[in-house]
Amino acid sequence: MKLQYQLNAAFAVVILIVMTITVFFVYSLIMDMLIQDERSQLEERAELLKQITEEQDASVRLPQLTQLVQDQNYPLLLFDLNQDEVLFSTLPANTAVDWLDRYDEELVDEEVWEDQSGESYVAYNIGVAPDSAQRILVMVTPLDDLQIVQNAFAQRMIRIIIIGLLLALAVSYFMTNRLVTPLSHLQKEVKKIEKRKFDQVEPVKASGEIKEVERSVRHMSEELERYINSQKQFFQNASHELKTPLMSIQGYAEGIRDGIFKGDEAERGLDVMVSETERLKKIVNEMILLAKLDSSEDVYHPEQVNVADVVAQAKDRLFPLANEKGVELYYSGEDAFYSYVDRERVLQAFINIIGNAVRHAHGKVEILSQITGDRISVQVIDDGNGIPEELLPQLFQRFIKGKEGETGLGLAISRAIIERSGGTISAENNSGAGAKFEIQLNQRMEDRQ
Ligand SMILES: Nc1ncnc2c1ncn2[C@@H]1O[C@H](COP(=O)(O)OP(=O)(O)O)[C@@H](O)[C@H]1O
Ligand SMILES: [Mg+2]
Repeated sequence: MKLQYQLNAAFAVVILIVMTITVFFVYSLIMDMLIQDERSQLEERAELLKQITEEQDASVRLPQLTQLVQDQNYPLLLFDLNQDEVLFSTLPANTAVDWLDRYDEELVDEEVWEDQSGESYVAYNIGVAPDSAQRILVMVTPLDDLQIVQNAFAQRMIRIIIIGLLLALAVSYFMTNRLVTPLSHLQKEVKKIEKRKFDQVEPVKASGEIKEVERSVRHMSEELERYINSQKQFFQNASHELKTPLMSIQGYAEGIRDGIFKGDEAERGLDVMVSETERLKKIVNEMILLAKLDSSEDVYHPEQVNVADVVAQAKDRLFPLANEKGVELYYSGEDAFYSYVDRERVLQAFINIIGNAVRHAHGKVEILSQITGDRISVQVIDDGNGIPEELLPQLFQRFIKGKEGETGLGLAISRAIIERSGGTISAENNSGAGAKFEIQLNQRMEDRQ
């Protein structure tokens, strides 16, 4: 069943239950109220009659009383307990006698009296002169009369309830419609994502939580699209990167086999084959490492590490390369900053970054570290030509490299390591010249992990 119908049905059932309970209570209460009201009317009439019977003298009062009772059609009864006699009655004679008999023991304090045929009456009894303890005036109204009022009332209530229910259903339909329409639109958009038609995904008009879900879905769609594209790119790049050295190895191998390359040429060919094989091995190893860093495989072993120490160590490792290239390496900044990371991996990340800087520098590489709050920032600045502008947006992706690049995996690995360490890495070109890389890591104690 559609969500909207389910919501409406649930709403209708709740309203129906509430209203039924209300009607039940009101219906039973109304009878009590009607009886009380009727009794107070009877009381008024009884007081009036009592006055007449007491004020006038006997010769006029009976005819006057009879006249009044006949005009008004009052059902009433007057009896004398002492003489055990019905003095006056507009009720059937046997009812009058029966009530006189049962008065003392049963009826005196009752509000509703029953006659022999089982019919009930609302009754009001009052003592009248000359002896108000003995002479009793009883005024009654048949309960049936009240039941007619009660039923009329119930009918009206049922009519009101039906109208109320219809109104409530209309409101509920309107409200659930507002709720459900964006959901069904959202479902259509999700279907598009399922079919990978990312460019056709459109925003859905909604508010509140549904809007939040819609935003998340759109965000998820963008992420998925980016992920699928990057996977595609990765496979294209990877096959290209692996094919180039393989083709060169194959070319030289076939040339040597077929005797095209001889002597020195064959010697050079073998050298190329060895170095290309080295390169292949490096690419494959780096790809495997990246895949492991991406998955949750056990290649990352964090411990309490002095990051400043690790940076200094990376600088020392690159000293021979810098020397060979005639590049000066400077390091200044903090002595101690502790973070909970994998020492070897973070060292590898810094060697990648500083190594790139040394390779691209003209004559100087500066490393600066600085602590702000519970973060350390390490900047690696060189004076080279800077990062080619077209590389900048995807610099940290796999196989993205410049003209003199090697594998194009170094920065991808560095980013994977730094992000695994809970830090961030960014790159920009210095306004003057050269590139600037910044790595930030969090101060973190082991027990807070
Ligand atoms: N300090 C730098 N100055 C200029 N370009 C850089 C610098 N560091 C990295 N690059 C550019 O980014 C590319 C990717 O770097 P990386 O991922 O380490 O791959 P690789 O070093 O194997 O080429 C490099 O090929 C180079 O073009
Ligand atoms: Mg590199």
